Amino acid sequence: MHIEVEKISVVNIETPLLILNIFEGVKSPQGATKAVDEALGDIISNLIEEGEIKGKLKETRIIHTHSKISAKRVIVVGLGKPQDFNYDVIRTVTAASLKEGEKLGIKKVATIVHGAGIGGLTPQLCAQALTEGAILGTYRFDKYKKREEEPIEELKIVELNEEKIKEFREGVRIGKITAEAQNIARDLINEPGNILTPREFAKRIKEKGDEVGIEVEVFDEEKLKEMRMGLILGVGQGSAEPPRLIILRYKSDPGSEKWYGIVGKGVMFDSGGISIKPAESMETMKGDMAGGAITFATIYAAAKLGIKKNLLGLIPAVFNMPGGNAIRPGDILKGYNGKTVEIISTDAEGRLILGDALSYAEKLGADPIIDIATLTGGSIVAFGDVTSAVFSSDEKLTKEIIEASRFTGEKMWEMPLFPEYKEQIKSECADIKNFGGRKASPITAAIFLKEFISKARWLHIDVAGKEIYEKERNYLSQGGTGIGTRTLIHWLMQN
Ligand code: BES
Ligand code: ZN
Ligand code: ZN
Repeated sequence: MHIEVEKISVVNIETPLLILNIFEGVKSPQGATKAVDEALGDIISNLIEEGEIKGKLKETRIIHTHSKISAKRVIVVGLGKPQDFNYDVIRTVTAASLKEGEKLGIKKVATIVHGAGIGGLTPQLCAQALTEGAILGTYRFDKYKKREEEPIEELKIVELNEEKIKEFREGVRIGKITAEAQNIARDLINEPGNILTPREFAKRIKEKGDEVGIEVEVFDEEKLKEMRMGLILGVGQGSAEPPRLIILRYKSDPGSEKWYGIVGKGVMFDSGGISIKPAESMETMKGDMAGGAITFATIYAAAKLGIKKNLLGLIPAVFNMPGGNAIRPGDILKGYNGKTVEIISTDAEGRLILGDALSYAEKLGADPIIDIATLTGGSIVAFGDVTSAVFSSDEKLTKEIIEASRFTGEKMWEMPLFPEYKEQIKSECADIKNFGGRKASPITAAIFLKEFISKARWLHIDVAGKEIYEKERNYLSQGGTGIGTRTLIHWLMQN
């Protein structure tokens, strides 16, 4: 979708559809909506008075203008209650309005920027949120099935104030990059396991990374053996498709040797292995590589944005399959950092491959290191498909990530790493075991990961259950969500 800002008034813009807004509980429209209402002879205020427009969040009402203004139609979208307004409301109502436009087969739309005059919100971030809502809200995974509605081709943001126009243009530039990166993550998550093998994942990341100057190195099984990455190899050995470790480097701060590390779980399909999952639990397991997709999307966006930071991305990519050569419960593996791990459940595979990747990230000098993973079913029990769990021993890093998530609307909440939980992953025959029982399972999984970091600042995000939506919510359709991508990008931009 082409998005641009134009200096023109709402009554003069020629467009098949102009998006305006109204807060819930407001008797008479304000700002741009007021200007159009007056030009239309009070149609909007009359509809409010009659109770036909209530301003409830996502409510839309289309009105034909009969040539009283240059726009053919206007759509009045409800912003909900003023006290609940935030950047995510902008994304949500933009997506809702554009979807109405799509239903009418409209290709070109104009809009005002919702919230750009409201205290506490900056015009630039409002325009960024609007752009994100537009691009994320109209995404479809249509590679294997034709979409029903034709996509909207152009969105024009109308504004008269020069200062705001400047800020809007910057917001649009950034929003386009962040949302398109998230859509790349969604495409990868939606791609099924029969197509997206570890090798294919590495190939696609290399191709796309090349476009923006990201250096991509791929360890094959020979190299993994040479590196003694026994945890990645162990998980991968049950599959006919060999594992890979994908290493991304984006060096844009040559004067610095500081590397920001991002590590993402890349289980291309998680059958559970020998500790096989029940069939129903496997249906969405092609999405178990979401962390890897998010890691790539984040670094891709950072490169496009020109963020001046050295970024290191590590994506261990494997299939977790049962097979004649698969690891068994009771097996003992040795990780890259020399630690031995007793396998209790082969379904607790994410923490194994991440263990090797985390210790290698630290070895390569990354600090801080953030990992993102669809790690535990327990985090879905705790937080459902709304909130992601955050774990870290670094208060500042935690604050930064939670703060970033407030802007992006990707809800995150901190969980503890109290040392008492370590008891649960003590093993009789190895340094640690990979599963500590059902009690506090997201926490013991995080404690397991912590064993693979010695000094670096580290933070872990468990996005399980958030990577694929069963059904549409706000501006994200059913399917792969890419949730986590924008928070990581925003964090990199802000800190
Ligand atoms: N990939 C799963 C976690 C998961 C579950 C992600 C549901 C998305 C949706 C992970 O590898 C896993 O299987 N975790 C298990 C481990 C346990 C059975 C040992 C868990 O946490 O339930
Ligand atoms: Zn598993
Ligand atoms: Zn898994």
